[in-house]
Amino acid sequence: MARNKIALIGSGMIGGTLAHIAAREELGDVVLFDIAAGVAKGKALDIAEASPVFGKDSKLAGADDYAAIAGADVCIVTAGVPRKPGMSRDDLLGINLKVMKAVGEGIAKHAPDAFVICITNPLDAMVWALRQFSGLPHNKVVGMAGVLDSARFRHFLADEFSVSVEDVTAFVMGGHGDTMVPLLRYSTVAGIPVPDLIAMGWSTDAKMEEIVKRTRGGGGEIVALLGTGSAFYAPAESAIEMATAYLRDKKRVLPCAAHLTGQFGQDDMYVGVPVVIGAGGVEKVVEIQLNAEEQAMFDVSVDSVKGLVAACKALDPSLA
Ligand code: APR
Repeated sequence: MARNKIALIGSGMIGGTLAHIAAREELGDVVLFDIAAGVAKGKALDIAEASPVFGKDSKLAGADDYAAIAGADVCIVTAGVPRKPGMSRDDLLGINLKVMKAVGEGIAKHAPDAFVICITNPLDAMVWALRQFSGLPHNKVVGMAGVLDSARFRHFLADEFSVSVEDVTAFVMGGHGDTMVPLLRYSTVAGIPVPDLIAMGWSTDAKMEEIVKRTRGGGGEIVALLGTGSAFYAPAESAIEMATAYLRDKKRVLPCAAHLTGQFGQDDMYVGVPVVIGAGGVEKVVEIQLNAEEQAMFDVSVDSVKGLVAACKALDPSLA
């Protein structure tokens, strides 16, 4: 059976890390695409030269021609610009919207059957625009944010409780911005909900509030530390988890920016919600019950995404 083909649109910090992980996991053959052809080709060759050492046979290639992504099973999009210290994700909208147009058209022409995972920020608006520009089915275009935000949340919780990250489940809903909604009630250690752990004296409400705040600002914390560019290891791992769920039909339940058609009271919106990912792409939106406080936080977050989508429509009338 032929190997899967994974096209990485954007070969910068996240794109290169994605290629490295995909090759090490032998998830499929990898094409790195970038307007900077040398970067794409150089990273492909560097990883290919590492492959005899790590002992995997994925083929790697670099390109600046969309024809190279032809027939891809999965496209992971990181093309665009990242934040600089002091910038919010929303400040990237004008530049990255133009990039989404080029990428959407390239995917539509050369890889219309792919499962597309968008990482470019501001995430929820960019994945919405990418879907519009590409015209692909909504269930085949999804945004990576919730897995990353939840991973940050899980890391902080595991650290606070001094337990393995493997035993902490947590999820974050809403837009991938400062208004995201980390849900303590649905976060557990080996199935024990966080509120029960607080009642057991494992931590305090004040500490949990700090962790929620740190999770919301998790991306900005890394941007400030790096000084140039934004996080790349955790975003790449998160997107690989989603790609694997699709390619291996695992039916994972993962928080992703998915298209809503009435769920959670939202229509024609991309925003972070729990979904099932399998061979059918986004196979189901898991419509959990939010309490009044959670719903209010979710609505604020959705409103900020709506504002960004309106800004996209104003910048590019073809989206209106
Ligand atoms: N087509 C293809 N590639 C492009 C295009 C385009 N139109 N425009 C820019 N690129 C490429 C750049 O040449 C660069 O190699 O996208 C790559 C982006 O890489 P980085 O600058 O290293 O950014 P990265 O850290 O990978 O983040 C990418 O993901 O998390 C988000 O906010 C982040 O929007 C940013 C994106």
